[in-house]
Amino acid sequence: MRTPQRRPRASIRRRPLVAAALAPVLSLGLISCADLGGLDLATVGSPDKTTYLKLALNQAESHPSYIALEGLSERFEERTDGRWNIEVFPNEQLGSQQEVLQFVKSSAIEMAIVSGTQLENLNKDFQVLNMPTTFSSVDHQMSVVRDQDLMEPLFTSLEDSDNISVIGGFTQGTRSIYTKDAPVTTPADLAGRKIRVQESDMHIRMIQLMGGSATPLSYGEVYTAIQSGVLDGAENNEVSYVTQNHNEVAPYWSGTNHLVGLDYMVMRHDLLEAMDDQDRALFLEEWDRTMAEHTDLWAVETEGAIEEAKAEGATFTDVDKQAFDEALAPIRDEFLTTDFQRELFEQVRAADPDQGE
Ligand code: GCU
Repeated sequence: MRTPQRRPRASIRRRPLVAAALAPVLSLGLISCADLGGLDLATVGSPDKTTYLKLALNQAESHPSYIALEGLSERFEERTDGRWNIEVFPNEQLGSQQEVLQFVKSSAIEMAIVSGTQLENLNKDFQVLNMPTTFSSVDHQMSVVRDQDLMEPLFTSLEDSDNISVIGGFTQGTRSIYTKDAPVTTPADLAGRKIRVQESDMHIRMIQLMGGSATPLSYGEVYTAIQSGVLDGAENNEVSYVTQNHNEVAPYWSGTNHLVGLDYMVMRHDLLEAMDDQDRALFLEEWDRTMAEHTDLWAVETEGAIEEAKAEGATFTDVDKQAFDEALAPIRDEFLTTDFQRELFEQVRAADPDQGE
């Protein structure tokens, strides 16, 4: 594994590109018209040319997901003698996650890393893996995500309807609340406070149950919304807290650890099908290795982010964890509404190595 190194943070106060379509990206010359869509599936991967694949990411270059994806790109290019080239576009350069998911669907780009919340909006069964209490640790989560038999029905569920294959995921680590003014130790402390959530009905409900007032917003808008006072805070993991510089505007981190979140790698299904068997196997092998590397890197980078936030003045506070757990308990019955969802949830819980402790 590459030795994890802390990289300089990207300046994210630059307003991220929020593209209603790819037009703004094109007008800035980040990618050219000729590069967009238009992949000839009949000739992808052929020896006489390089097939370029665009992969959208909303994280900065210092984030473990970018580092791991760059590794994937390098290895796949090398192992195919340059026939394939994955271009990773960080910092929402191609648009917010909601937008880039549409771009994958419409074949304007080939791949994206999107949060589970985005897939929930296409198929509610993804909520099972994005619910507080589903995963008890990153290790539990990643062993489930890499269990192909268990994940198959969910991961292939969007292929016919949306031309999207889910090929696995990256952990988002454990998410907690952070605020502008004062720390939070009980659900009562969140009363009247506006907390940003991802665009998900379940996550809106999650914050309501935790005592706060939920405001859905895309990732790239959070810094400015907290800074300007539109929001009182947000919830995320320590790595995003620091790589997005949110610690500067919301210096009170309260360790609610309410959710082990999950990102997915989504890919055009027709492209995966068009790859020849050897290239596809190679790509999936390198992707599996990338997931493992990301998980290792995650632990290191989380520690680094905590140190960095503290050094820059953030305070880290423990919360009344039992009170938050009790407040969140009703979420299961509210969101596990079908037999498929309940069964998947039970299977995932049964795979928890710490179950019963
Ligand atoms: C994490 C996650 C992203 C997600 C973000 C968010 O950083 O990795 O995929 O977009 O949280 O809260 O929006």
